[in-house]
Amino acid sequence: MRIDKYLASCALGSRKQVHDLIKSGRVTLNANVIKSIGAHVDEENDIICVDGERIIYSRFVYLMLNKPEGVISATEDNKLPTVLDLVPNEYSHYNLFPVGRLDIDTTGLLLLTNDGALAHRLTSPKHHADKTYFATIDGIVTEKDIDAFYKGIQIDDGYVCKSADLVIIKSDLVSEIELTIREGKFHQVKRMFEAAGKKVLTLKRIAMGGVLLDDNLIEGQMRPLSDDEIATLRSI
Ligand code: URA
Repeated sequence: MRIDKYLASCALGSRKQVHDLIKSGRVTLNANVIKSIGAHVDEENDIICVDGERIIYSRFVYLMLNKPEGVISATEDNKLPTVLDLVPNEYSHYNLFPVGRLDIDTTGLLLLTNDGALAHRLTSPKHHADKTYFATIDGIVTEKDIDAFYKGIQIDDGYVCKSADLVIIKSDLVSEIELTIREGKFHQVKRMFEAAGKKVLTLKRIAMGGVLLDDNLIEGQMRPLSDDEIATLRSI
């Protein structure tokens, strides 16, 4: 692999930034400074450092996005902006894709990766990865709803949802709740509340597979997952 591709793959900047790093003599290959942007490296065996610090190549990338409203969870679209439009340039060669989908008006935690096996595990009905949402609801949410969601509520197409945990934060004309589900039917949370005679006003995913949305991310921002977060997802 070319050294510039290697460094860009390690999220050290765009190709141009990586070229500047190399030309300024800050990159070493097995302890020798290299200044050629086209030099080849063996990503398994060579030791590559930037400013003396070893840079480890990783094939997979895992990002946590705080999805804003108005963007779709797809890799391309003719009309609407997609979550990939929010990905910084340094990740552009990674072929990232969103893990599952959030509706265009849903905000919050969306994972982006190029690790197909992990994405499959997190979205496959077999593995039941927990997904927790915070929602505001038009209507008074009651204990009866908690019971109905726990027992398995039947939605519009006749499907009986798996047991879900509903926590009421505020019960009022506009209620606030947290709901944890273990499957991912199309518009599932909205349809579950519809079946309970109520309308979801706003919906935000706050956790998935044991990973919590980072409060420090404003909508539209993303960050790489920590090693612990990746391990948590892998443990599913
Ligand atoms: N349920 C919904 O209704 N919408 C989402 O975006 C996610 C879960």
